[in-house]
Amino acid sequence: MNRKKFLLEEKDIPTAWYNIIPDMENKPLLPLSPQTKQPLKPEDLYPIFAEELSKQELNYTDSWIEIPEEVRDLYKNYRPTPLVRAYALEKALDTPAHIYFKNESVSPIGSHKLNSAIAQAYYCKKQGVTNITTETGAGQWGAALSYAAKAFGLELAVYMVKISYHQKPYRRSIMQTFGAQVIASPSMSTKAGRKIITENPNYQGSLGTAISEAVELALQTPNCKYTLGSVLNHVMLHQTVIGLEAEKQMEMAGEYPDVVIGCFGGGSNFSGIAFPFLRHKLTEGKDIRIVAAEPASCPKLTRGVFQYDFGDEAGYTPLLPMFTLGHNFSPANIHAGGLRYHGAGSIVSQIMKDGLMEAVDIKQLDTFEAAKLFAATEGIIPAPESSHAIAATIKEALQAKEEGKPRTILFNLSGHGLIDMAAYDQFIAGDLTNYELTDEELNKSISRLEPII
Ligand SMILES: Cc1ncc(COP(=O)(O)O)c(C=O)c1O
Repeated sequence: MNRKKFLLEEKDIPTAWYNIIPDMENKPLLPLSPQTKQPLKPEDLYPIFAEELSKQELNYTDSWIEIPEEVRDLYKNYRPTPLVRAYALEKALDTPAHIYFKNESVSPIGSHKLNSAIAQAYYCKKQGVTNITTETGAGQWGAALSYAAKAFGLELAVYMVKISYHQKPYRRSIMQTFGAQVIASPSMSTKAGRKIITENPNYQGSLGTAISEAVELALQTPNCKYTLGSVLNHVMLHQTVIGLEAEKQMEMAGEYPDVVIGCFGGGSNFSGIAFPFLRHKLTEGKDIRIVAAEPASCPKLTRGVFQYDFGDEAGYTPLLPMFTLGHNFSPANIHAGGLRYHGAGSIVSQIMKDGLMEAVDIKQLDTFEAAKLFAATEGIIPAPESSHAIAATIKEALQAKEEGKPRTILFNLSGHGLIDMAAYDQFIAGDLTNYELTDEELNKSISRLEPII
């Protein structure tokens, strides 16, 4: 058997997604209506989301949810994805640790985001929806959804965070190639966008603002639903195909991870790789560490507060229980655009609160150093987002070396960085800096949060 690359066959693509909620002792608190502050039922979500996705969002009872055949058929275009042992990286670090990565960058659009995009587009189409809207940070989610929307014959409008719209023009062209309409956010096309532009004409946008615009457009357009690429429970659910495959592949490798690592924006790729392993900890008491790697400039898990907050800037979304920096938090313009989000999904937030996982914050320059080493050793240029997981992996591997003990590390390579070369250019030219959030900035944002309950 190849000891470097662990490959599964088409028949091994999971037939059901794993819903972690039934296995959690403390379930995530329910989302609340922004108007009444009462817990929401699936029907309350129908105006915004497809019905099946609304049901999945609040499914607290079924551990396994069947993957529709049409979705599995499209998964077959790129799944199962490889699990790779990073021998060259291990050698460069001179570490006794064994490093494995699940390579989600091999999807047609280059990231894990397609796993949920296909499912969301499918359920919208099945319900007879014709138009969908969304937001995108660095453009990975927008690109994935553009492909999925095209596959199911849906019209798509994407609000792309303004800074990324300019920093990553090729992701915009990818979306346009698939036929999506792309609007830089904040824009003058929505009430939420106009308000922000009027208050701060130079605002470069955030995921929170783009979400407000996309939700507003969906609510005002007939036969239109909103879709989201992270944070929500149903997105975490769809991403579990990553960890379910990795579980089998680690078995093929004859190893079990001591630690599982994912970078963290709203939590979808992290949950995808981690939840199937966390299941062993919850149901069998297995000793395994789960680590989220977030940017030092947007540290919701390491420095945020656990509270009900809005998922968006304007306050259109349901109130979600989350670790948050405040929905008006304006993150620094780091290149890992997909990690510039103020909050963490409610499942992850509960797991974090219960001490079942850890989080580390990583500085921008450290992520690019890690990316450079990974590229030089493993031959793949990682997405700036994924480089946070690589930096955290390197820390773990060096710790193992210091202790002189072996350690098996599994991380998720959530995407490649081939459309992010402008960021690498700046790094090579020495033009990138670290952004660290000061206590003053943090307190200012958090103090604006109103206590809900
Ligand atoms: C490649 C990649 N990794 C990670 C993320 C972060 O999102 P999440 O935390 O939902 O995985 C993004 C988001 O855009 C991304 O594009």
